[in-house]
Amino acid sequence: MREQLLALKEEVSKALGSVTTEQEVDQLRTRYLGRKGSLTQILRRMKDVPEEERPVLGNLANQIKQEVAGLLDGRRAQIRDEERQRKVREERIDISLPGRRPLRGAYHPLTLVTREIIAVFQGMGFEVVEGPEIDLDFYNFEALNFPRDHPARDMQDTFYVAEDVVLRTHTSNVQIHTMKARTPPFRVLAPGTVYRCDSDTTHSPMFHQVEGFLVDRDVSFAQLKGVLAVFCQALFSPDVPLRFRPSFFPFTEPSAEVDIGCFLCRGAGCRVCSQTGWLEILGAGMIHPEVFKSVGYHRDAYTGFAFGVGIERIAMLKYGIDDIRLFFENDQRFLRQF
Ligand code: PHE
Repeated sequence: MREQLLALKEEVSKALGSVTTEQEVDQLRTRYLGRKGSLTQILRRMKDVPEEERPVLGNLANQIKQEVAGLLDGRRAQIRDEERQRKVREERIDISLPGRRPLRGAYHPLTLVTREIIAVFQGMGFEVVEGPEIDLDFYNFEALNFPRDHPARDMQDTFYVAEDVVLRTHTSNVQIHTMKARTPPFRVLAPGTVYRCDSDTTHSPMFHQVEGFLVDRDVSFAQLKGVLAVFCQALFSPDVPLRFRPSFFPFTEPSAEVDIGCFLCRGAGCRVCSQTGWLEILGAGMIHPEVFKSVGYHRDAYTGFAFGVGIERIAMLKYGIDDIRLFFENDQRFLRQF
């Protein structure tokens, strides 16, 4: 039995040599020290041993058991240690490598231009108001004095949601909502998304406008000119030339389209200004008495002016972008430049 005990220890020691995982060590432990393990098998024959030898053999058995347990524990700890060192080696961080910058978002160029426009008008006391993008024909057309047969009402330009409901074709609907809800005086700026059934390099079926309007008593066209001059100077340059061209909108009278001197050729004529030396940037005019009438004001009680700016157009001019679709393709290479 003594030889068997010593051989057992020898066997475990040998087996541990070819073991590489903690799990395998545990299997050996069960095989040799478990309830049905080799050691138990050996000790079961203790009853056949002469009585006087039992204490000595018993001691030896205990000693062997402890030694074997020690071997197993030792190997287990060793494997664990090696594993840890391997991990440390593999997951080592090279702190001398340059850091990776977090990817930071940027404002969309249209957001930048819109904010810039808002800031200029807030400086002149305008408050920002929003209106619905899906609206009744009344607010988008009827109350704005669009005659029933006006071409802008044609299915070609307008997205109809229902017989009497449209995707707004301009932000001028906010004029009507605001006037119906309030009593003058007020000055309001209404940025927002608008929709027209139109698409090429300079037209998008969805685009953005900023509407501005001021209603009070004795408002003059000169005041409109002054406000728009401040706007253009702030957005483009302090010495930008301005030109008011007579134009037509059903909801303003008189109406004008406003051009700035082309800042690319300084008036000499180039591709961007189609050789005219001027760039059209907005529509404006004195609010038509019919509009006041349709919102329930006495038609002679108030005067006011309104203007509408296409944000994409301004952004394209400011940043030298030649295709409106770039704004909506969400190509990071484009967007990251702003
Ligand atoms: N709503 C007009 C357009 O979309 C612009 C405009 C607004 C003109 C206000 C005059 C006054 O073209």
